[in-house]
Amino acid sequence: MATHAAVATVGLKQHLAIIQVPTIKPQADEVRVHVEWTASTPLDLHQNDGGLLVKPPQVLGDGTAGTVIEVGPGVKRLKVGDKVFGFTWREQKEKAHQEFCTAPEWLLGLLPKGFTLAEAVTLPNNFVTVFHALTADLNIELPWPKPVNYIPRGADEGVLIWGGSSSVGQFAIQILKYYGYTKILTTASKRHHEKLRSFGAEFTFDYRDLHVVDDILNAERVSLVLDCIGSFQGSIKKIARIAKSESRVAILLPVIVRDSNEDVGPIYEMDVKKGVDWENGIDVRGVRTHSYLDHNEFFKYHLQADIMPTMLKERIVEPNNQKIIEGKTMLVRAQEAMNVLRRKGASGERLVWRVSDM
Ligand SMILES: NC(=O)c1ccc[n+]([C@@H]2O[C@H](COP(=O)([O-])OP(=O)(O)OC[C@H]3O[C@@H](n4cnc5c(N)ncnc54)[C@H](OP(=O)(O)O)[C@@H]3O)[C@@H](O)[C@H]2O)c1
Repeated sequence: MATHAAVATVGLKQHLAIIQVPTIKPQADEVRVHVEWTASTPLDLHQNDGGLLVKPPQVLGDGTAGTVIEVGPGVKRLKVGDKVFGFTWREQKEKAHQEFCTAPEWLLGLLPKGFTLAEAVTLPNNFVTVFHALTADLNIELPWPKPVNYIPRGADEGVLIWGGSSSVGQFAIQILKYYGYTKILTTASKRHHEKLRSFGAEFTFDYRDLHVVDDILNAERVSLVLDCIGSFQGSIKKIARIAKSESRVAILLPVIVRDSNEDVGPIYEMDVKKGVDWENGIDVRGVRTHSYLDHNEFFKYHLQADIMPTMLKERIVEPNNQKIIEGKTMLVRAQEAMNVLRRKGASGERLVWRVSDM
């Protein structure tokens, strides 16, 4: 059986390792992609340092960008040679941090002209998370195609994106703006405020400011909150002072009780209500993007195949800035990206690296 190299987590806070895994021939509607670029995300750190949802040795990565090199017999849209990008995560054959990824064609979008794979790979995980969290957890309708002159229900209600400069937060602001939300509030370091306003935020706040909660309360009544950070102290406890009865709050899981660093391991929590004094009548949810295929049949087949590449092509969303991680081999690049995540080195940008050495 043919095999290829993949980057795997092998134990808590251990160095990553290369393992050989089977190269899977595409069946039915699957394609095999030569993975050229990927992104490292906080989930890689949660998995390597916290053991979240992993059983080592496990191949990491969910952002795939590369070239289709083989197609299954039922493939209708993609062909050999196409450049594609997508959120592919469900089992080993789909993982991104390996030389080849085999996945159904509806998990992949065609790279629009004028964009690089490194730019495009900043989208998939974040883009899917925003659509899933806004529709499934905050009950916002995001019709596609968007009707002409569309005005959403509650267009002028305050929507707070906590962590607007995060990779997810940047897409959340841009997508809400596109659908017609006018009162977007966001928190980020000051150096990102101008960019986030250009994306569509009306109010920007520095989350490190001691008065940030009062400033938000004084600016606008907030009905919807997307917490793109999920930090127990850094976001959730503050949001609990802002959210009032009848508002909806969606928090990206896991709740981070303690971050991983060079010395200690992380502490995570999956219950978004634990230890937080939420006012009665607030609908608080933890976001689980990994369930998006089960939640919405239309998004299953169209979110990544059609909506994501179209929104990129039409510049409705801009890719995240990329911090390109260099290194001689795939393993060196993957490990360096993990080290940067541990040092909290990504601010307003995505860690992106070349996968295959071939
Ligand atoms: N459950 C799910 O379905 C799901 C899906 C996607 C992501 N997530 C989780 O969501 C979290 C964020 O992911 P990501 O990829 O978007 O992260 P990221 O891009 O790596 O986040 C980095 C950003 O976080 C900002 N930040 C840090 N602490 C903050 C705070 N207390 N308040 C406001 N902003 C703060 C920093 O802002 P400044 O640079 O402005 O200081 C930085 O730009 C991760 O824990 C990830 O695992 C969960």
